[in-house]
Amino acid sequence: MSLIEAQNVGKVYGDSIVLERVNLKVKEGEFCTLVGASGCGKTTFLKMLLGTEQPSSGKLMLNGKQFPQEPDQDRGIVFQRYSVFPHLTVLQNVMLGEELAGSKFLGRLFGAARTRAKENAKAILESVGLTHALDKYPAELSGGMQQRLAIAQSLIKKPKILLLDEPFGALDPGIRADMHELILDLWKQTQVTIFMITHDLKEGFYLGTRLLVFDKTRHDPEFPNAYGAQITYDIPVGKTDKRIYEEINQATHLDPVDLKIKAEKNAAMGN
Ligand SMILES: Nc1ncnc2c1ncn2[C@@H]1O[C@H](COP(=O)(O)OP(=O)(O)OP(=O)(O)O)[C@@H](O)[C@H]1O
Ligand SMILES: [Mg+2]
Repeated sequence: MSLIEAQNVGKVYGDSIVLERVNLKVKEGEFCTLVGASGCGKTTFLKMLLGTEQPSSGKLMLNGKQFPQEPDQDRGIVFQRYSVFPHLTVLQNVMLGEELAGSKFLGRLFGAARTRAKENAKAILESVGLTHALDKYPAELSGGMQQRLAIAQSLIKKPKILLLDEPFGALDPGIRADMHELILDLWKQTQVTIFMITHDLKEGFYLGTRLLVFDKTRHDPEFPNAYGAQITYDIPVGKTDKRIYEEINQATHLDPVDLKIKAEKNAAMGN
């Protein structure tokens, strides 16, 4: 059974149609990257997977059942710029997730539970390479370190699904490369199912198991919001697929149209 299944999912805001007939089946442990033009509904789709938005039509299912109507611990999200708590240290920011989950009313743990939460938080922070910064405040961290902190925060609750909305979009290329290795390592270790939006097609091709292209197949120039985007291409990719990666890497200008041509070429070549 699929972990996530979308059947003809549509999303409408007022009279603008954002998404229409989105169909998708994703198995546990997959790593999907999402690309598409700005405003085509990628974040909206992620919010439906988080549970803060509901489909206007169609069916969205988690483990074959209707999607929970609100966020829960099974799904963690990291945004491009994450607002960690500025008055808490790195360690306290990560522990907070467990404290809020463990003690709904006080938001604090005591004794053995607190020691355990601290050890868990330290272990997660080690896995994202922040052991040396446990007592620093967010303002003292670089952009890359802040995103590592955001990822650690989302992982502490051991989500089954990790949702990443352009998490590396604001980072320098060198730091991004480090973050790619980090996220691939974390994915392999935790076997979490990942959905990651990116504006960088190279990133989309390099990371993950599937590249999902969101695009509109119908346009009405007079009413640009008359039609929504769909998943127009669902391309299996992988870190090891060097040929496609190199081809993408050498291209100077890429947009979803270029991507379609490449996907068609690849399909024609039997790849
Ligand atoms: N809460 C909302 N109310 C009304 N319209 C909304 C709402 N959220 C999103 N939209 C509209 O839905 C469309 C899709 O927005 P969304 O943020 O999902 O796009 P996106 O693909 O993530 O774009 P970007 O790449 O720029 O982040 C946009 O036209 C946006 O204005
Ligand atoms: Mg977005």
